[in-house]
Amino acid sequence: MKPFFITTAIDYTNAPPHIGHAYEKVLADVIARWHRERGRPVFFLTGVDQHGQKVQQSAEKAGMTPAEFAKDVTAKFKALWKKLGVDYDGWAETTDPRHIAAVQAVLQQLHDQGDVYKARHSGYYSVRQEQFLTDKERNDQGEFGPEWGEVVFIEEENWYFRLSKYRPWLAEHIASHPDFVFPSFRGSELANAVAKEAGDLCISRPKSRLGWGIELPFDRDFVTYVWFDALMNYVTFAGYRAAANAGLPDFERIWPCDAHVIGKDILVPAHGIYWPIMLKAAGFEVMPKLLVHGWWNLGGAKVSKSAGNVVDPDALADRYGCDALRYYLMRDIATGQDADFNEQRLRARYNADLANDLGNLVNRTVSMARRYRDGVLAGAPADKSEDAVALEALGSEAARRFDAAMDGYQVHSALEAVWELVAAANGFVESSAPWKLAKDPSQAARLDEVLCVLVEAARLAAALAHPVMPSSADRILAQLGFSGNLAPVWGAVADGHRVGEPTPVFPRLEDDQAV
Ligand code: MSP
Repeated sequence: MKPFFITTAIDYTNAPPHIGHAYEKVLADVIARWHRERGRPVFFLTGVDQHGQKVQQSAEKAGMTPAEFAKDVTAKFKALWKKLGVDYDGWAETTDPRHIAAVQAVLQQLHDQGDVYKARHSGYYSVRQEQFLTDKERNDQGEFGPEWGEVVFIEEENWYFRLSKYRPWLAEHIASHPDFVFPSFRGSELANAVAKEAGDLCISRPKSRLGWGIELPFDRDFVTYVWFDALMNYVTFAGYRAAANAGLPDFERIWPCDAHVIGKDILVPAHGIYWPIMLKAAGFEVMPKLLVHGWWNLGGAKVSKSAGNVVDPDALADRYGCDALRYYLMRDIATGQDADFNEQRLRARYNADLANDLGNLVNRTVSMARRYRDGVLAGAPADKSEDAVALEALGSEAARRFDAAMDGYQVHSALEAVWELVAAANGFVESSAPWKLAKDPSQAARLDEVLCVLVEAARLAAALAHPVMPSSADRILAQLGFSGNLAPVWGAVADGHRVGEPTPVFPRLEDDQAV
């Protein structure tokens, strides 16, 4: 079976990771885990973007070489993914010699087939944004605003990629492949941008100005500028043009990519225009699909280092645990839309959803099974009670809704379905009142059934939530007496099933705990 191939943007190593980076990686990880848990092979690729002017500049400021600086920041990203349980199969680093060789091979091919050319260009250049500016970028006063940083007039020769030659093909591809971009409103934005896009793409920088990059194989005075360097990672680390001994997967088995998970800021023009055209020019017939997510803002403002409002995911994971952070990041945003990051909301969700709803269900279920039955349960009776049948139906429907939502990348809706099951199971505890049944010997069979139903419901909830909170769900499953059973179905409790020890997985946060 072809693996589900999922990638994220590779994170720029000019600064340490922030909450936006963490969100994207967790989103991709949750989707990857869900596929794996449903039995589908997955190739999940993520990594870091190590070249470029900003890394060169940050390194200079820190008194380090760009290589040392990028290595340092790369280690921070890797440590964070480990802490957050981001379980990738492939790791991309753009300074990797295997990547460099494959990028150069593609550039050479484009050169040989006449798709790149050298030309002289003069104009205004933004040092911060590393791009030439046109009149489009001028503000109402006719000036280049502060967002462009220092703007200088330069004249230089560079290499250009014949983007315009492939533009009609791209417009047609977008029109005929409505699933090229998810969500569809982003596809419409892209179609509009393609209609406006004109001209070719500058793909080089003279080495005199930018030394920290991949050399053009046909003109050693230049390095290739960000696009070929960064975008190509999606194929080079999946084995494209790899040397036989490169230690990378078999590309033919993996391509095409089922989901490039990216933020809305890098759809137009990078992933929506340059990337498919680069692939087409290199000879690709089947194109990848793009999954475009929104942004986490802070008090309505963009999270950015320069605004000084960066939220540190590492500290949050230390404070609340990796799974509580993962849960919040998946629960409080709709994939494709923006959301506002708010630590108070994270705490509120922790206490309400995790400690109270799920945590209590598990704790009461295991405790009652031990108190009333020494931890050993009877399987479901042949003749089930009406309320047990109803909860089972609700559980099966929650599982169906969960998978349908995940298939459409709506992780928050998938979680909603799980918490409806949790709420119904907590309601079942109240309505069936096991503590009353335990006092009446004539109700022994009913108590057996109630305990069995509760263990089933809690197991199903934990199994469904597993991709979002893998280690907590494992702990819950162990307390319920299961190990490794993630099947999203009802009916796992056999006669003689033994539950484990009840230990709170999500201890309540007290209000006076510091934020
Ligand atoms: N290196 C380029 C991508 C090259 S991909 C071939 C880059 N790096 S980045 O570090 O600036 O951003 C990495 C990813 O994080 C992007 O998909 C970006 O959209 C995402 N996010 C950055 N800030 C974000 C938020 N505040 N919220 C959500 N995602 C955000 O772009």
